[in-house]
Amino acid sequence: MATEQPTSTTRAGLAPGAATGDATAVAHPNIALIKYWGKRDERLVLPWTDSLSMTLDVFPTTTRVRLDPAAGQDTVTLDGVPLEGEPRRRVVAFLDLVRERAGRASRAVVETRNTVPTGAGLASSASGFAALATAASAAYGLGLDATGLSRLARRGSGSASRSVFGGFAIWHAGQPDHGADPDLGSYAEPVPVPVDELDPALVVAVVDAGPKAVSSREAMRRTVDTSPLYRPWAASSQADLADIREALRRADLDAVGEVAERNALGMHATMLAARPAVRYLSSATVTVLDAVLELRRSGVSAWATMDAGPNVKVLCRRAEADRVAGVVREAVRGGSVHIAGPGPAARLLDADA
Ligand code: DP6
Repeated sequence: MATEQPTSTTRAGLAPGAATGDATAVAHPNIALIKYWGKRDERLVLPWTDSLSMTLDVFPTTTRVRLDPAAGQDTVTLDGVPLEGEPRRRVVAFLDLVRERAGRASRAVVETRNTVPTGAGLASSASGFAALATAASAAYGLGLDATGLSRLARRGSGSASRSVFGGFAIWHAGQPDHGADPDLGSYAEPVPVPVDELDPALVVAVVDAGPKAVSSREAMRRTVDTSPLYRPWAASSQADLADIREALRRADLDAVGEVAERNALGMHATMLAARPAVRYLSSATVTVLDAVLELRRSGVSAWATMDAGPNVKVLCRRAEADRVAGVVREAVRGGSVHIAGPGPAARLLDADA
């Protein structure tokens, strides 16, 4: 039986599109089981391939957006520290997009609290821009439904389009020739999955919480432009997507894990073949991969996936997550290990919450 998945909520009692001027939202990171890697349009953040993810119930980002009509520029802080450089530029560019759509010029004060190590390949930009899109669209009164919110979050960071939804979500790349407005065709939506039967958990092994040497944005660009393996991977990813959807429908965790692991390893292979190579995986990553293989040999369903960093997320049954976490903890030594289940959709917090 398909479990109904939560969708994005709006603040009760408010007319759609009414600007609150001050809104706070919370969103969770997601981990892709079928990866997004490569843009066909940088400005609109349109990907070459569809991707599919699970939103987590750990590491939420909380963002408050407050309009300040008297201010000459936006104020943006992360955990109380003013953002500078490229991270600030991305937030301001995103607010400019929201302002343009709202037809309003007011600058804003943006305060973000992250509980995930920023820039460590743990999808902080996904929860970050999903929370910012949800809060900013309420503050400026855009009146978007969940699909519109997903499209908007995509413009901040591609993976954020999926964090608008809870549970499992698919992000449609959209057709390259989608009429006059290609923006419309690319958004995420929930995938119905029998979650109780699947009983999934992701054991997150943080082997290195430092920021990455190459941003995923730059690494993607280089991979698409120079890797001879990129196109074959993109083509096989479409087949992986069909396989994983079928496996999810059947609640076949081993089949889901097998497809997710090969899709992630394939993505990393495309980067290793880029010129110059992008290598996010470290010796600590390989140690965890060995431990995952050992778990499988001993009869435990455990499958690995890695993003733009050395950290490993191990897909397993919730019922076996403690055992998997124990083995992974031994392997990472000095790193931290967290157990995550399927998490909720992005949502607005009540003003007095
Ligand atoms: C490896 O969404 O961070 O985590 O759109 O450039 O902001 P931008 O990239 P981002 O890339 C995430 C890539 C990934 C795979 C995934 O989440 O699908």
